[in-house]
Amino acid sequence: MKHSIKVFPILLAVFGTASGAVDGEVPAWAYALNPPTAQPVMKEDEPQRVPGSSASFTRGEIAAIAVRPPDWHPDEHPTMPGIVGRSREPRVYACAYCHLPNGAGRPENASLAGLSASYIKAQIAAFREDRRLGSEPGRAPQTNMIALAKQLTEIEIEESANYFAALSPVSFVKVIESPTAPRTVVAGWMLRKAPGTSTEPIGNRIVELAEETERFENRDSRTPYVAYVPTGSLARGADLVATGSSGLTLPCASCHGADLNGLADVPRIAGRSPSYLFRQLYDLRGGTRTGAASESMKPVVASLTDADMVAIAAYLASRTH
Ligand code: HEC
Ligand code: HEC
Repeated sequence: MKHSIKVFPILLAVFGTASGAVDGEVPAWAYALNPPTAQPVMKEDEPQRVPGSSASFTRGEIAAIAVRPPDWHPDEHPTMPGIVGRSREPRVYACAYCHLPNGAGRPENASLAGLSASYIKAQIAAFREDRRLGSEPGRAPQTNMIALAKQLTEIEIEESANYFAALSPVSFVKVIESPTAPRTVVAGWMLRKAPGTSTEPIGNRIVELAEETERFENRDSRTPYVAYVPTGSLARGADLVATGSSGLTLPCASCHGADLNGLADVPRIAGRSPSYLFRQLYDLRGGTRTGAASESMKPVVASLTDADMVAIAAYLASRTH
């Protein structure tokens, strides 16, 4: 059909995605933006505690992004070198503030534990070169990552890459299929449970929430999360990942390793935050992630719909290490 060739690019322009089956707007659940009126979450000077730790920090200390981020479980990781555990001027924040001392990361950023040092360095290079802008330019966690990557010295890149590469991967996310999810608000660039117990239809979303908001706000590196995903996602995701679902995508294990825990410099994708995984697939498809090695992922994401990517992210997150 002659016309379909002409019509399709127009649809692309309108909807801004590579797939006609998509709603067109950057999904707010994956790229959560703080409301303009958001207040800093932490104000109190009351000492805070988290389970399994004898440490105590005030909320003021926890929020002190400019100095040393809280280290609740110093026994679970080696000594943090330089920039990993201590921020420096101008606004070069310690990696552990966002990615946590054990490299577990949080849904608004990324887990780093056990990625290869050269993969980590390649991603820092991509941030520095504006090849990992993300699909939502207003999302501060990402713009902070980009800004600080540009400030890092060669030594800081080397020691932080080696530090996170040497850690064992950890995952604290439990994936639950459900037709509904708790109602949410956005605070700290993340979804969190709205006050009360009301729920709403899940739609085509992943609703990834800290089970205990307090531990999350205290930046406990062992904070457990629940990710509510649409019913049927796990089976659909398993099929896409293992077989490519009749040529819709490519089986992932050939590059990411038989257990999806990474192979050489191809990153681990099992047991990671589903919000993070979704953002990466979405950014790769939309062309806002174009780092040196990202060409291999183009045919993988080209024909996927948002719903396919939700299913893939849900299934990958449910896999343990
Ligand atoms: C202000 C918070 C913040 C700080 C501090 C921070 N990052 Fe990040 N980092 C992020 C966010 C947010 C992302 C994920 C962006 C996205 O969703 O694509 C990220 C992603 C990454 C990735 C990509 C992971 C992957 O699997 O591709 C690497 C590597 C990384 N950061 C390394 C570092 C290092 C090393 C430091 C310290 C020098 C650091 N980051 C400090 C917020 C931060
Ligand atoms: C032909 C090889 C290849 C195949 C097949 C492949 N990938 Fe990848 N993937 C890569 C490479 C290489 C990267 C790193 C890209 C970069 O450096 O930006 C990557 C990166 C990713 C990332 C980003 C990870 C991170 O830490 O940010 C995700 C998510 C991902 N792939 C998911 C998948 C899924 C899901 C499949 C199967 C449906 C798949 N990949 C199939 C090669 C592949």
